[in-house]
Amino acid sequence: MNRPIVELVGSGRAVPEKVLTNADLERMVDTSDQWIRDRTGIRERRIASDDETLARMAQCACTQVLEDAQVDVLEIDSIIFGTASPDRLLPSQACDLQAALGADNAAAFDVTAACSGFLYGLAVAEGLVAAGTATNVLVVGGDRLSRITDYTDRATCILFGDGVGATLVRPARNGDRGILSTYIKTDGRLGELLWRPGGGAIHPPSEEMLADHSYFLRMAGREVFKHAVRSMADACDHALIQAGLTTNDVDVLIPHQANLRIIESLAKHAGFPLEKTYINIDRYGNTSAASIPIALDECVREGRIKPGSNVLMVAFGGGLTWAATMVRW
Ligand code: ACO
Repeated sequence: MNRPIVELVGSGRAVPEKVLTNADLERMVDTSDQWIRDRTGIRERRIASDDETLARMAQCACTQVLEDAQVDVLEIDSIIFGTASPDRLLPSQACDLQAALGADNAAAFDVTAACSGFLYGLAVAEGLVAAGTATNVLVVGGDRLSRITDYTDRATCILFGDGVGATLVRPARNGDRGILSTYIKTDGRLGELLWRPGGGAIHPPSEEMLADHSYFLRMAGREVFKHAVRSMADACDHALIQAGLTTNDVDVLIPHQANLRIIESLAKHAGFPLEKTYINIDRYGNTSAASIPIALDECVREGRIKPGSNVLMVAFGGGLTWAATMVRW
């Protein structure tokens, strides 16, 4: 099948109002602004209030997408939500979003691939459109990791922030603009490098779990770091080869914003100058599945991505999962 089959139209984002700075974290755990900036590049992150649910933030981001794309909400026939921290475990986050939007004609479901969730969602959306099952698919990436972060664990609590980003996938109708290639990959044997031991069916919620904090995210940071650089560089190579392009053809690289040092190593390994690499981790930290669509929306609204721009998005996350998507905007 010849690509592009689908194009991306419109973008949107929503982040909480509350800013949690490194200075705030200094008062919560044994850390320092200097350590956090040197090791991660993060200066501050956004933390959702009780009212800023994922459904609310996603509704706001999707409303911007619909306005941009000039599509009525009733024309949406699928909603795919990439998240690892839904408002409720059942029904899915996408179902709650469908209700909030009033997208009465849409089927809605979640994709669980941690920080790779948005790119996995794009891959599924392309498949739905290619099969003729869907025409207008809202693809959302959002997480509220603050709700599953242990704020007594300095190795993880400094990293994460909350937010949502979204776009619309529809059949390609602008010549060669759209998704040019997709690469998705998983290594489930490495699942416990980044995981939540408790809270699922094996270890349902219990008093013991509250005491030992096993319902929070746990991460072997150093190991995850190594895999992140290797696998994202590999994903970039595959996506470029599949699209018949080289690094020189890419106008903007949007990497998952997990750690500035990971982004810099990736850019070096994959051969991208840092000027082409979009970085906003200093303002948001790691927003998991939201990091790429938030960055995409900022690039579009700042004019850094224009119609015809070649954009390479690359992600890495728990699972372990990783993915790259080459798009001509
Ligand atoms: N403040 C001060 N010191 C700290 C902190 C902190 N917040 N956290 C850890 N340290 C200490 C450690 O205890 C250790 O001390 P020691 O040498 O006395 O034992 C020292 O700093 C070095 O620790 P490392 O873990 O080796 O630090 P590193 O440079 O690897 O940075 C970090 C840690 C930031 C977590 C890094 O490993 C990282 O970013 N890993 C990747 C995370 C990631 O990409 N996740 C992506 C997926 S997220 C998702 O899917 C939801």
